[in-house]
Amino acid sequence: MRILGISASRRKWGNSECSTRMILSSAAAHGAETEFHRLDEFDLQHCTGCLRCVYKGRCPLDDDLYALLDLCEGADALVLAAPVYFLCMNSTLVALMDRLLTTDALPVGGGERRAVTVNLLGKREWRGVGRSYLNMTAWLLGFGVGQCLDVVAEGPGDVLMHGVNCERLEKTGAALAAGTELPVARDPGLCPGCMSDFFRIEPPVIVCPVCGYRGDLGAYVERGVFEDAGSKPRIGREWLKWHIDDWLRPSATRYMKRRREVLRRMRDLKNASAHA
Ligand SMILES: Cc1cc2nc3c(=O)[nH]c(=O)nc-3n(C[C@H](O)[C@H](O)[C@H](O)COP(=O)(O)O)c2cc1C
Repeated sequence: MRILGISASRRKWGNSECSTRMILSSAAAHGAETEFHRLDEFDLQHCTGCLRCVYKGRCPLDDDLYALLDLCEGADALVLAAPVYFLCMNSTLVALMDRLLTTDALPVGGGERRAVTVNLLGKREWRGVGRSYLNMTAWLLGFGVGQCLDVVAEGPGDVLMHGVNCERLEKTGAALAAGTELPVARDPGLCPGCMSDFFRIEPPVIVCPVCGYRGDLGAYVERGVFEDAGSKPRIGREWLKWHIDDWLRPSATRYMKRRREVLRRMRDLKNASAHA
């Protein structure tokens, strides 16, 4: 069992790194082969939106993206941790996520390999919306999220000082290594796809704004349970491939047909802007 651990925080030995390392060292003690990286060790440039990954199958930016994706491909399980910054995941993680349209270059499937995600936050009431993005990133990297842990750790090193956190993290590492059930049961009130805990109300359903799962509004209000109301979730690589083929690629054909006119209008706008 090869377990890859990635911390998206730029803080060395911060709470994200410590959480990831705690899971990994417990997994190693239970026989797993483990490898740890901080995301900022990789040269990952920002997506420029050129869409060449969609049209040509590969991102033209010359950096470490494909080295990172190869590492993920070679792993049997993933531990991915990131801190909440201003109610979302930190920008290092979001910058990676922006680059993952290129998963077209990778085989579909892989969702059967497990990921554990760790959502570091300073205050539960300030947890915001980050965990959905964290989980979506793990899915796009080719793993199915088996467990998403919210870990409250306000200041540097706090994660090491809470016995309950440490115990959960250690048990998680042991279960990952053994391939057994993960210790924290899934909350039935969360979105079954991305484990989001925020929803759009569209009576008679609630809709997960991230992955599109639809749940019964009555069941959610009365019993706090997310009951599937006939969903077509947009999560994972298979969905992304469909999205690329069905929606993004045709935009290239459309553009090529209208290219002359688009370029003419752009030229006009440039000229007008030069005089503005
Ligand atoms: C710029 C910044 C913004 C933050 N915003 C939030 C927030 O919106 N909600 C929250 O719960 N914690 C917030 N925190 C606290 C961190 O999520 C928390 O301290 C976390 O444990 C840091 O992990 P790290 O040590 O791996 O970087 C913020 C921290 C920083 C530095």
